[in-house]
Amino acid sequence: MIIAVDGPAASGKGTIARALARHYGLPHLDTGLLYRAVGVTVARRGANADNPQDAAAACDFPDSLLADPDLRSEDAGPLASRVSRHPQVRAALLERQRAFARQPGGAVLDGRDIGTVIAPEADAKLFVTASLPIRAQRRHAELCAQGNAVSLESLAADLAERDARDTQRTDAPLRQAADADLLDTSNLSIDAAVQHAIALVDARLKGRD
Ligand code: CDP
Repeated sequence: MIIAVDGPAASGKGTIARALARHYGLPHLDTGLLYRAVGVTVARRGANADNPQDAAAACDFPDSLLADPDLRSEDAGPLASRVSRHPQVRAALLERQRAFARQPGGAVLDGRDIGTVIAPEADAKLFVTASLPIRAQRRHAELCAQGNAVSLESLAADLAERDARDTQRTDAPLRQAADADLLDTSNLSIDAAVQHAIALVDARLKGRD
C-alpha cells in the first residue's frame, strides 16, 4: 500500500504523513529532506544553488547528513527549493524515492511530486493545503517556539516565493494529481486534519477492494 501526500510548505503535510504512517504501520519518507540535504551541501561547499552542475554534484551527500539538524533550519527550505528546480537533481533523487515507495508492504511519502511523478500508482493520494496567511502563522509559531525571531511578513514572503518557484518550475511542478483528494487544513486542528486524512485514505482503500 502506497500513500502519497503532497502540498505546499507548512500546509501540515508532514504531520499528516507521519500520523498516517503510524496509523497504518508503514515506513515514512519526508522527501523534502533529500532536497534540503542537496541544498545544504551546495551551501557548505560555497557553490551556487542556482547552477545546475553545482547542484547535481551535491547529490552525492552521505546518508548521515539526513539526521543533521541544519536541514530543518529556515535557510535550508529556500535552498532546497532552488536546487529542486534542476532536472538533474530530481533525476538523481528519483530512484531512491521510488525504491522506498515500492518496498514490500508499502510506504507513506510526503513531498511535492509523489502522486504525480514518484508514485503515480499510489493507492491513496492526498493534496494537503492551507491558506498562505495560516501557513505563515504556523511557521511563525513553530520558529518562536524554537526561540527564533523571524517576522511574520518575511515568512509570508518567503512562503509565497517558494510556492511560486515550486508551482512554476517545468520539471515535476507542485500540483494536485487528478486522482488526489484535496484536504484544506486552514480551519482544522492537527487532530481533526489527521482524522480527515485517515477517512479519505480509508475511503480510497475501500474503493480499491
Ligand atoms: O516543510 P517544507 O514544506 O517547508 O519543506 P520541505 O517539504 O522540506 O521541502 C523543501 C523544498 O524542497 C520545497 O520547497 C520544494 O522546492 C522541494 N521539494 C521538491 O521539489 N520535491 C519534493 N518531493 C519535496 C521537496
